[in-house]
Amino acid sequence: MSVTRSIFLRAFGRPRGFLGRLGGVIMARTNADCGAWVTELLEIEPGDNVLEVGFGPGVVIQRLVKLVSVGRVAGIDASQEMVEQARTRNRAAIQHGHVELRLGSVERLPFDDASFDKALAINSMQVWPDAAAGLREIRRVIKPGGRIALGFTRYSGQPREGVVEKLVTAGFTNARLVETDEWFCILAAKPD
Ligand SMILES: C[S@@+](CC[C@H](N)C(=O)[O-])C[C@H]1O[C@@H](n2cnc3c(N)ncnc32)[C@H](O)[C@@H]1O
Repeated sequence: MSVTRSIFLRAFGRPRGFLGRLGGVIMARTNADCGAWVTELLEIEPGDNVLEVGFGPGVVIQRLVKLVSVGRVAGIDASQEMVEQARTRNRAAIQHGHVELRLGSVERLPFDDASFDKALAINSMQVWPDAAAGLREIRRVIKPGGRIALGFTRYSGQPREGVVEKLVTAGFTNARLVETDEWFCILAAKPD
């Protein structure tokens, strides 16, 4: 692996150490608008149970807490550093039992089948070790008729091409791409 890629992964891919802390601060500033756009596309309702995979510094979790007043918000991230940053950012909501943020990997979600109405991931799928397994596992925990959104900024390294096909292969339906100059998002649903 090149030195540049190794530094990139430490800062943003699975943040750890000093670079990971810095990466969290940078992502909190630069990805919030894309996250807000994706939550709008996903049409989050106050009563939804929502899962965010790869929540990073937890800025989108903060937004979800505001949108989901009755339901619950859960998140999973593979980086201890990010779990700590996101827990600090969402301390009050966690204390009130409104939010649960777990350390773990998308390939083995610690949640029951059909427990979420909606799931999202921003700038995350491109660094999962096994994207196909991760998408199948998200499908497992979404309710029939529930929806998924995968959002990416243009500097994520994720090509637009092929994501719709990945979702269809994982068993999602009605997959479609929405894009702006800066961001793109693929929306899909779990069949009823
Ligand atoms: C580029 S960061 C994006 C963070 C945040 N979503 C944002 O947009 O600012 C990718 C995130 O995905 C997490 N991640 C990487 N591999 C993962 C996996 N297998 N399961 C869950 N999260 C993972 C990383 O720890 C990191 O927080």
